[in-house]
Amino acid sequence: MKALFFTEFGTSSVLKYGEVGAPHISDNQILVKPDYIGLNFADIYRRRGDYHIEKHDPYINGYEAAGTVADIGNQVRNWHVGDRVLFVDVPLANAELVAVPVDNAIKLPAKVSTKLAATIGLQGLTADFLAHDLALNKPEDQVFIHGISGGVGQLLAQILTADGMRVSGSVSTETKRQLAIKQGAAHVYLRKPGWQHGLKATFDTVFDGVGSTLPLSLKIAKRKGKVVFFGMADGNPPRIDLLDVLGRSQTIATGDLWDYLTSATERNQRSARLFDYISRGLIQLGEPTIFPLSQGKRAHDFLESGRSIGKILLVPDKNS
Ligand SMILES: NC(=O)c1ccc[n+]([C@@H]2O[C@H](COP(=O)([O-])OP(=O)(O)OC[C@H]3O[C@@H](n4cnc5c(N)ncnc54)[C@H](OP(=O)(O)O)[C@@H]3O)[C@@H](O)[C@H]2O)c1
Repeated sequence: MKALFFTEFGTSSVLKYGEVGAPHISDNQILVKPDYIGLNFADIYRRRGDYHIEKHDPYINGYEAAGTVADIGNQVRNWHVGDRVLFVDVPLANAELVAVPVDNAIKLPAKVSTKLAATIGLQGLTADFLAHDLALNKPEDQVFIHGISGGVGQLLAQILTADGMRVSGSVSTETKRQLAIKQGAAHVYLRKPGWQHGLKATFDTVFDGVGSTLPLSLKIAKRKGKVVFFGMADGNPPRIDLLDVLGRSQTIATGDLWDYLTSATERNQRSARLFDYISRGLIQLGEPTIFPLSQGKRAHDFLESGRSIGKILLVPDKNS
């Protein structure tokens, strides 16, 4: 089979596309043929050697895809060849075939296409756990999302708006600002010099997946407010003095989606809750940007450039 792979960590130039050995499934696995593979920021960290990646020779990146079941292991019940499936935490996904432990496989409802599932999957489940496990806001709470029109940002903003919170955020361009307003945000700040003046101690919760913005997040959160820190899209955060945090009775909550996707039950309940927002029309998303798997380097460059809006998907070349 063909895959996007690399043998050393580094810039996007380490990525190669070519023939690798196909996976063999064990008794409790299903073989999945991805239609759409999700590209995520964590894949950039992994390619750089900054984040855990499955040991494999060569390295094959990617943990998220949606597609169809091509084969099932001897012990597998309740799955059939041809079933449509999503997974968000299975390694070696940048390939034409992926061996998926049955506990990690999420069955798709009839109304959710494999394209939609891959578009919302990992980022949607992230937005869901940030909102419902970490932030735990009440209706009318004032919340702020840095990079509100990013992949996680768009989903999080719409989930929080649907849950009754008053959602604000920041963006780098006017196009992104218009998108966030269209998706229901109350206030969207274009990051021009001085944009944050006047926002000191304003928000009950600040969602920070940017990293470098952590000191600002603590500043614009209220006394007794919360900062939900969940990623480093603009680099590692500077060190924070916890005595300052204590002095304002603030909370810094952090989390990794994988610590919440700990069983088949968790995966299915959480994805059902996410798909419910979609089926009730509470989440509207733009079209994802699609690259052939063989053009993975261009896809990584695009994600790293900061020009992308929303999800980037890779499509195995035979399907594109
Ligand atoms: N903890 C978890 O389990 C988990 C799971 C999934 C993702 N994540 C993290 O979530 C974050 C977002 O991921 P994503 O997939 O949504 O990526 P994405 O679509 O590329 O979004 C990243 C956003 O960061 C914003 N940004 C970059 N530099 C910024 C700055 N200096 N100030 C303010 N905003 C800035 C960008 O907004 P502008 O374009 O407006 O600049 C962009 O919208 C990443 O850090 C990722 O690692 C965490």
